[in-house]
Amino acid sequence: AGNRTFTMIKPDAIENTGAIIKMIQEAGFRIVALKKTQLTPERAGQFYAVHAERPFYGDLCAYMSSGPIVPIILEKDNAVADFRKLIGATNPANAEEGTIRKLFAKSIEANAIHGSDSDENAAIESAFFFAQTEQY
Ligand code: CMP
Repeated sequence: AGNRTFTMIKPDAIENTGAIIKMIQEAGFRIVALKKTQLTPERAGQFYAVHAERPFYGDLCAYMSSGPIVPIILEKDNAVADFRKLIGATNPANAEEGTIRKLFAKSIEANAIHGSDSDENAAIESAFFFAQTEQY
């Protein structure tokens, strides 16, 4: 039981998928849904629509569609906040030691992994990738 968060291993970290999933499971998260897929630039734009007015939006959509990604739904008590602690700051230069971004991120854009910022966005982002019948 517990509540849910949504995460996505980004193209720059896809070769570290095994190590990242191991860290997530060892931190106590249960995998509810997981797959490997690739976004088109248009679908990346939809996923990041809240950032449409940001200067980095075009680069972000190009980057996020440049290779495969691994979207994952996770479950744990206090999932959203605990997962953001596990991944560390958006900019890996500011990420704490031992966090996933400190270990695997390459830049503020190619920052290895996404983590939902609220329960509401976790539900929206989960539904973007997974049908109800794919969530166990
Ligand atoms: P995330 O927080 O998962 O979702 C928004 C993404 O936009 C973020 O990860 C980075 O990949 C990217 N991003 C955020 N800020 C910047 C920035 N200043 N420059 C480039 N990319 C950014």
